[in-house]
Amino acid sequence: MNTNCEGIFYITTPIYYVNAKPHLGHAYTTIVADVAYRFNKMKNNSAFFLTGTDEHGDKVVKAAQKEKMTTKEYVDYISGLFQNLWPDLNVDYSKFIRTTDPSHMKTVSVILQKIYDSGDIYFSEYEGLYCFGCERFYTERELVDGVCPDHGTKPEIIKESNYFFKMSDYQDWLIDHIKNNPSFIRPERYRNEVLSFLKDPLEDLCISRPKSRLTWGISLPFDDNYVTYVWFDALINYISALGYPDGKNFEMYWPKAQHIVAKDILKPHGIYWPIMLKAAGIPVYQHLNVHGYWNVDNSKMSKSIGNVVDPLKLKDIYGIEAFRYFLMREMTFGLDADFNEAALIQRINSDLANDLGNLVSRSLTMAQKYFEGVVPDVSDIENDFSIKKAAMQTIENYDACMKDFAFNKALSFVWDFISHMNRYIDSSAPWELAKNSDKSDILKGVIYNLLEGLRILGGLIYPIMPQSSEKMLSLLKESPGNFNALSWGQLKAGTKLEKTITLFPRIDKKKSQKDRQKQPKHVKKLSNLKPEISFEDFQKIDLRVGRVLAAEKIEDSKKLLKLQVDIGEIRTIVAGISRHYSPDDMIDKKVVVAANLKPAQLMGITSEGMVLAAVKKKKCSVITPDQQVSVGTPVQ
Ligand code: MSP
Repeated sequence: MNTNCEGIFYITTPIYYVNAKPHLGHAYTTIVADVAYRFNKMKNNSAFFLTGTDEHGDKVVKAAQKEKMTTKEYVDYISGLFQNLWPDLNVDYSKFIRTTDPSHMKTVSVILQKIYDSGDIYFSEYEGLYCFGCERFYTERELVDGVCPDHGTKPEIIKESNYFFKMSDYQDWLIDHIKNNPSFIRPERYRNEVLSFLKDPLEDLCISRPKSRLTWGISLPFDDNYVTYVWFDALINYISALGYPDGKNFEMYWPKAQHIVAKDILKPHGIYWPIMLKAAGIPVYQHLNVHGYWNVDNSKMSKSIGNVVDPLKLKDIYGIEAFRYFLMREMTFGLDADFNEAALIQRINSDLANDLGNLVSRSLTMAQKYFEGVVPDVSDIENDFSIKKAAMQTIENYDACMKDFAFNKALSFVWDFISHMNRYIDSSAPWELAKNSDKSDILKGVIYNLLEGLRILGGLIYPIMPQSSEKMLSLLKESPGNFNALSWGQLKAGTKLEKTITLFPRIDKKKSQKDRQKQPKHVKKLSNLKPEISFEDFQKIDLRVGRVLAAEKIEDSKKLLKLQVDIGEIRTIVAGISRHYSPDDMIDKKVVVAANLKPAQLMGITSEGMVLAAVKKKKCSVITPDQQVSVGTPVQ
């Protein structure tokens, strides 16, 4: 394996269970991974970012049954929700893996066989306390007052023959590895937690489930009567996604692997996974980065309690950039944090609108006023270097914190610099300097320093708020994404600046609360809702994106237009939209077509589909995709 991997970075999130929809917790971990990924790309590192979904096991089968779907339909549906969510959160992953991907399943078999062949998997009868919620056996010691610590239910006694993985043989090796590599599990509290767990003898891990109880899993390659335990399957995603054993990505990225997880899954990642790797003869990962839990309004956020926050709703209300900033600023990586709306509004108003937003608008307004929006030339004047010094120190501190996953500290250094700049404006008082022509060089220097400071700030916020960074830098005719550009003095004299814009509007707390109070009105029950249909029935409708090639009025009809629509094949469609759209309005329009509707005769013409439109009373609006998509694309 290539060990010369300077400048390489591989980051993963947990692959999320598909037994529940995505929520704030998933969003946080994935945004952290995205921030780390963008930071590394900005540093010109070759970076790979993996996320995905964990789709096997009993819980998934039960969740599908509850939704009256087949297991396959259900996993496709929930995995799709995760895949659709990430772009909305500005998450830019390199690969999305699913444990139902055939290539992943093949790799799991290869590893199982390898470990079995080396003698670390054995068959034995076992009687133990089994928690169906966790899909695993518990020892008496692990239970809290006789019940499962996660589910609060009493485990059932189960006796069955199963395959076991000899974890106990690797206990001493793992303790040594953790002790010799202090940042293997970080922050330190979680390293200590794992070491303290390893003080007691490690039990072997039951890694099979008989098919009589569960078939939705990967068959053991050496015994077809069993499927493998979900964790043994899921953890392997981190290498199957790279094409283990022969993939180029595996060779390149695996030596630099870093995982991000929350404290709930510390044990599988801190104990099972390194031992599995060791037993399979694969080098272990570099770092396990463990964060704490988000609570919402000071109460535990859990699927069973049902107070899961829908991240999409939050981002729609406050904007994704502010949402990402809040998550990164508010949680000390490793500790729990509380999510509440008031704190989010406070951060937006104070940090974003007030501190950063005002700094940008004050600086650019002064540059417009005193230098007609052109960056002044300071090459032949003696400039004050205090801002330069503060900027360089900020970059150094930021860099060290970002590498260490101390995002809130990194941001706190950035905001110290913002305050420094705001104070600099007040103390140098450019409006006074402008009154005195003897001080024009000093004024030039101050404005240059402010603009250069903004350029550096715009670069530093990029991993956390990529869109705001881009907007901010575009005002200076710059673009983000290159850490090397953050050295002092790169802003070119003579650059014509853009007029300032409001980067972060203030939130009116009262109005936002009022809007919230109004919400019940919007969510009142629909009185004319059609009877419920199953997901299966819905899936029967084949909707496609089409482009209207030709359109004409149908004689003798006030309502109907005859359309020729390209949906990958040409269809004649009669649409009742003539009162709202002229033929010219429709030509070249992208539309959504129900493509497998039985043809119908309308005014003597065979209509081979239906164009979708929002229709209410006398209004009619044809549905059209809001982005460029090719004809024939399925709509789901
Ligand atoms: N499928 C396993 C992971 C297998 S990885 C090989 C799993 N999935 S999960 O859907 O339950 O996701 C757990 C992860 O979601 C946590 O480790 C964390 O990343 C995220 N979070 C879930 N709830 C959370 C909070 N309340 N707060 C922060 N993150 C949380 O476990």
